[in-house]
Amino acid sequence: MRINLALLKGDGIGPEIVDSACHVLDTVARRYSHDIAYTSLLAGGCAIDATGVPLPKETLDECLKSDSVLLGAVGGPKWDTLPGHLRPEKALLGVRKALGLYANIRPAKLYSALADRCPLRVVDDFDILIVRELTGGIYFGESGRRNGQYGEEAFDTECYSEKEIERIGRVAFEAAKKRNKKLTSIDKANVLESSRLWRETMHKLSHEYKEVEYADMLVDNAAMQLIKNPAQFDVIVTSNMFGDILSDEASQLTGSIGMLPSASLGESTRGMYEPIHGSAPDIAGKGIANPIATILSVAMMLRYSFSLEKEADCIENAVVKTLDQEYFTGDIGGKMTNNEITDKIIENL
Ligand code: IPM
Ligand code: MG
Repeated sequence: MRINLALLKGDGIGPEIVDSACHVLDTVARRYSHDIAYTSLLAGGCAIDATGVPLPKETLDECLKSDSVLLGAVGGPKWDTLPGHLRPEKALLGVRKALGLYANIRPAKLYSALADRCPLRVVDDFDILIVRELTGGIYFGESGRRNGQYGEEAFDTECYSEKEIERIGRVAFEAAKKRNKKLTSIDKANVLESSRLWRETMHKLSHEYKEVEYADMLVDNAAMQLIKNPAQFDVIVTSNMFGDILSDEASQLTGSIGMLPSASLGESTRGMYEPIHGSAPDIAGKGIANPIATILSVAMMLRYSFSLEKEADCIENAVVKTLDQEYFTGDIGGKMTNNEITDKIIENL
């Protein structure tokens, strides 16, 4: 198979971890006779420095022409004082929106080799799939500044249509059907009207998926339940904002945010794949970042965009084996560098 990949390495540790993931991908591609072509493009802070905007037109055009996009991370203190529409994060949001990637899939599972890195004292093995709505809600609602009764005000709006809720709901129910057949929808229906429509729509859908055990949960309770007993969850579906927050929380239970990959999907097979962590400016350039989240994102890409199951399994198994051999980067209690871990994973492929 020939695959054209758009690479958005981004800022901070982005370039290091994307390079690692590409080494792993190239090795797997050689073994299974696939041909991967990369186009590196500017996005985020590096694009601001070079062109003045976070998401140059060329970058977006190339992403639209590609078979899929692999992204490292964007942002950093250097660009923190820019106005909202010029921030590095706009690149990420812009690609998600323009490519119609409304479904963000974030698996959070506890690897047995990392069981003692979980900050909880008592924990049953957990394997959670978070399905986060990615192109709606407060991230994309009307927002702005205005003069109010007490001076300057700022506002952001959460708005969801029934259609948006239904399509993300279907992704989640279908995922639950293929896993342990349990879905928890997380909202704030005791306060927010948008959450009440969310809940009604999920309930309607649940009648079509009788084989899936469905429940809803308020987000504050969900934040607590994740700490109390993460093993109670199978698939979680939630809004853009709640998914952003809960996926960081869930990631920490796996030992490190450096472990969590993600897939962003829409109606076509083209997806964007990225670690859920940020650009970690504090360790950028030191070669000590954990590349596993990005490497596992590549595995998700092979599985979700190209149906290359064997190849995806090959990468995931190599990661598990490397962890079982107790080769760890600093974030999970080890001393290895990014390159050393990457070499071990490649050895284990
Ligand atoms: C994520 C990140 C992004 C988000 C930021 C960088 C815009 O936190 O992918 O979780 O909020 O979606
Ligand atoms: Mg986030």
